[in-house]
Amino acid sequence: MKKSILLGVATACALNATVVSEISSMDDISKSGWVFVSSVSQDTTKIVQEVKQEKEVKPAPTKEFSDEAKKWLRLAPVPAPSNNKVTPQRIELGKFLYFDTRLSIDDTVSCATCHNPDMGWSDQQTKAVGVGGAVGPRNSPTIINSAYQYHQFWDGRVRTLEDQALGPIEADVEMNLSLDVLIPKLKGIGEYVTLFEKAYPGEGITEDTLARAIASFERTVVSTEAPFDKFIKGDKLAISTVAQEGFELFKAKGHCTDCHDGFNFSDGSFHNLGLGDGDEGRVKVRRGVTKLFGAMKTPTLRDVTKSWPYFHDGSVKTLHEATAICGNGGRFADAKGLSSFIVDRGLTPKEIDKIVEFMKTLEGEPMKLTIPTVFPK
Ligand code: HEC
Ligand code: HEC
Repeated sequence: MKKSILLGVATACALNATVVSEISSMDDISKSGWVFVSSVSQDTTKIVQEVKQEKEVKPAPTKEFSDEAKKWLRLAPVPAPSNNKVTPQRIELGKFLYFDTRLSIDDTVSCATCHNPDMGWSDQQTKAVGVGGAVGPRNSPTIINSAYQYHQFWDGRVRTLEDQALGPIEADVEMNLSLDVLIPKLKGIGEYVTLFEKAYPGEGITEDTLARAIASFERTVVSTEAPFDKFIKGDKLAISTVAQEGFELFKAKGHCTDCHDGFNFSDGSFHNLGLGDGDEGRVKVRRGVTKLFGAMKTPTLRDVTKSWPYFHDGSVKTLHEATAICGNGGRFADAKGLSSFIVDRGLTPKEIDKIVEFMKTLEGEPMKLTIPTVFPK
């Protein structure tokens, strides 16, 4: 099994030199020495086989597609740190933890409450609602493809999924459970003790193994092939002509690709759309860099049809309105910190509709997922 994963690593690295170099340029991540594993399928037993197959039967995708196509396709398997390679045991454990409401103070809220697979891995709420109905300051983003992101959270205050995972458990407006209480609680659940031992032999139940297990499951939450991908691979009938016109507007007149670029439709950077809600955004993380006031991370547009309402403040319900704000100069042209890339592109309502038709083609089939109904006892 280990051998197959290593084969996959070799293939992936050979095919994805760009991605490897991008990721290894990230200071804190390069220290942990990243490797690539495939985790496209939720069926954990298949993961290793898939990696093997990639090596054995699939020709190198780089040879098949044009440079334009390669830009939009997911060629890179999900990156994972060398101390937390994805294994079926880690995914299984992480999945239980992700859906287990016992990770909250009153056993009512799990990660899935706000990042629900049936709601595009978000929650269809304007602002996140945690234990006892507490309302948080921001909208819950989708976690689809978070594994590929260089930063987590709207303001990018942490880098890795491991660093992100424990925050919501302790946050008073989310799960509000101290880790000092949670760790002994988990140690008292016999089947969790066994699952942690299988996933992290000899390491026990610690904050570290808890975070790594949840992150391992999240590395399986990735977008699936969408009609747009079929189109890019050469099936010109996979999306309508209106959507194709929308794609052209998205790239040219709308300048959407200034920020929503590449397979995940995000530049991984931070921009202020002039929403005018006073949220400090990225400047809170990069104190003193005043031009980052109100700047938020460019979100993915994969499966964006499902993750409404939109923006960090959940203030927008439709893709039409979101496009009009992004494409026609922001919400308030005089808002403090408005990005210089947010310019009135003069998109007409009809053109905006075409761009929306294009964004609909980014919705893939729901990933194969069996949500646990019975939890470790
Ligand atoms: C009460 C709702 C709520 C719960 C419960 C919750 N989250 Fe979140 N999550 C959010 C919100 C809101 C944000 C964005 C916060 C911000 O940017 O300041 C977020 C951000 C994230 C992100 C970053 C995504 C991105 O694109 O930046 C990840 C990953 C994530 N959460 C995973 C988890 C995990 C794992 C759990 C369970 C341990 C969890 N969340 C529990 C609401 C929630
Ligand atoms: C200057 C960079 C930039 C440009 C150009 C841009 N966007 Fe955005 N887009 C963002 C950022 C940043 C956000 C999130 C902003 C926030 O929540 O404060 C966003 C949010 C969105 C959302 C909501 C997604 C979600 O999950 O909340 C959609 C849809 C969207 N953009 C589509 C477009 C379209 C279509 C275009 C072209 C007409 C475009 N964007 C141009 C940066 C940009």
